[in-house]
Amino acid sequence: MIAIETFSLTKKFGSFTAVRDLSFKVKEGIIFGLLGPNGAGKTTTLRMIYGALKPTSGIAKILGVDVAKEPLKAKKLMGILPEDTGIYPRLTAEENLIYFGKLRGMERSTLEMRIDNLLGILKLEKKRYIIADKLSRGQKQKVAFARAILDEPPILLLDEPTLGVDVMSAREIRRLIKEYASSGKTVMLSTHNMWEVEKLCGRIGIISNGQLRYIGSKDELEKLAGEKEFEDVFIRLVRGETIETV
Ligand SMILES: Nc1ncnc2c1ncn2[C@@H]1O[C@H](COP(=O)(O)OP(=O)(O)OP(=O)(O)O)[C@@H](O)[C@H]1O
Ligand SMILES: [Mg+2]
Repeated sequence: MIAIETFSLTKKFGSFTAVRDLSFKVKEGIIFGLLGPNGAGKTTTLRMIYGALKPTSGIAKILGVDVAKEPLKAKKLMGILPEDTGIYPRLTAEENLIYFGKLRGMERSTLEMRIDNLLGILKLEKKRYIIADKLSRGQKQKVAFARAILDEPPILLLDEPTLGVDVMSAREIRRLIKEYASSGKTVMLSTHNMWEVEKLCGRIGIISNGQLRYIGSKDELEKLAGEKEFEDVFIRLVRGETIETV
């Protein structure tokens, strides 16, 4: 089944087109990485897919559900990590998770177990009762990641999930993302970390100036670019140094 699908998704801010005519499909159980330079349109794309931003035109669907037409149904299917983390600064780390879990209708005992488990894995136990405003950038990011996967929705949309996170926790986040996909769930993420893309993503989309230039597996993109190092692949493809598309 197709987990995420967009049809000619376009976003204009005034006369500026941030995302143009984006169409792609992501199958269930895949980790799809969106790569592109600053300002390429990754966050704008993700925000349109998770329903925080209304597209100027085009459609986004999650497991067949049109995000614009059935926003509540679509939202229940997604766990989201926004670019700005979106956690409540005046609630503690734990309260942020409890509040969200209740909102999602999680049963109390499941919620408590899940919170204990995730705070442990992400090395946040000591920050459990600290208000989010007083957490470091990386700690906030980890709370936001925990919130995104809290009730294990079928789709995860993660905007730079390991941004500002230390090596050990980034590894745990990647492990959780991998585990997620191997259980048949679907992850779409944006990142600037080439190594992360190589390690994690079954499919990769390269976006620049609001347009999806290439989409394919790591091997397909390497072949297309004629490069071995993924950083070189990325640079070549962003510059449009090849003419074919996958
Ligand atoms: N609310 C907005 N109003 C006007 N322009 C916007 C708005 N949001 C984004 N843009 C513009 O749209 C373009 C794409 O921005 P976006 O945040 O999607 O990029 P990105 O690929 O996520 O970049 P980064 O890697 O820096 O996170 C940028 O040129 C940005 O300035
Ligand atoms: Mg962004």
